[in-house]
Amino acid sequence: MPADPSSVVLPRYPVAIVGAGALGLTFAARLAATGPVALVARSEAQAERLRAGVPVGDAVFCPEAFGPERLPAADWVILLVKTYDTAAAARTALALRPRGVVSLQNGLVGEVLGEVCGGLPAGQGITTEGAFRDGAGVRPAGAGETLLPPGFEAVAARLAEAGIAARVEPQIVAARLAKLLMNVVINPLAAIFRVPNGAVLELPQRPLFDALLAEAWPVLRAEGLALDEAAARERVIAVARATGANRASMLQDVLAGRRTEIDAITGSLLAMAARRGVELPTHRAVFALVKVLEAAARA
Ligand SMILES: NC(=O)c1ccc[n+]([C@@H]2O[C@H](COP(=O)([O-])OP(=O)(O)OC[C@H]3O[C@@H](n4cnc5c(N)ncnc54)[C@H](OP(=O)(O)O)[C@@H]3O)[C@@H](O)[C@H]2O)c1
Repeated sequence: MPADPSSVVLPRYPVAIVGAGALGLTFAARLAATGPVALVARSEAQAERLRAGVPVGDAVFCPEAFGPERLPAADWVILLVKTYDTAAAARTALALRPRGVVSLQNGLVGEVLGEVCGGLPAGQGITTEGAFRDGAGVRPAGAGETLLPPGFEAVAARLAEAGIAARVEPQIVAARLAKLLMNVVINPLAAIFRVPNGAVLELPQRPLFDALLAEAWPVLRAEGLALDEAAARERVIAVARATGANRASMLQDVLAGRRTEIDAITGSLLAMAARRGVELPTHRAVFALVKVLEAAARA
């Protein structure tokens, strides 16, 4: 008689990823080449489809995928869902009985993560790895760097073993704020004007680019950004140029009629500014405009 699948004891994985989207599948495929990794999908039906094979770049990847109803245990969990799904994904992460949960999402999710994870080590790193959905599969879009908060040395080592440039960054707050600066300046403009990243440096976008940068820098600097104003400006311009032909994820979301991550990106900046009693009128305006675009896509 075949064994009842629900009675099979699942192994304990060294690492699991919650979120089988563009980046989750890309990380899982890389990790799977050098060791076990559990991939947690939104549902058992999705997990089953993934187990049958999913294109990741030019190869077909057959992940050890699970739905939230029947989860294995894992030592460490990496969260790779969109920011508005963070709380639900973090609750799923806890069900894996991990030693710690680390997010590599954009925007700021530390507060939500802390609320859900309670006393468990939980933190947010950053990654400049890239990937996008491509039909039924995903396509990695160039290697980047992954920085993890202190306490997640084991995760950094496992990622590095899989050939992903990853390390623990002692100044993770500053690194996260530097990434947020890029995102608050480039992403909303790309989405509103429907232009590739490089065009945010050109007219008619440029005055808004300058205003967003000038408003954001003092707030982020006060929160721990380790760049003076000139260096911050240089960094954002360099990123917009280096990724000039790319479509920002916020633009891709708007074009696909999906919800964007504006709450965790511009929304986080606006919340920081509000706590400091500072008004950021240009950020408030682009926040409202992106919300209009989201609502129009839903209508
Ligand atoms: N893609 C990139 O190049 C890139 C680069 C740097 C950072 N990031 C950040 O990484 C995060 C993920 O981005 P992405 O592009 O990989 O997004 P994505 O392609 O939309 O993938 C997210 C996946 O998470 C799944 N999901 C949502 N809630 C879940 C839950 N509670 N449990 C299990 N799975 C759940 C989604 O399922 P459904 O499809 O059913 O909703 C989707 O498959 C974002 O914060 C993004 O900003 C992305």
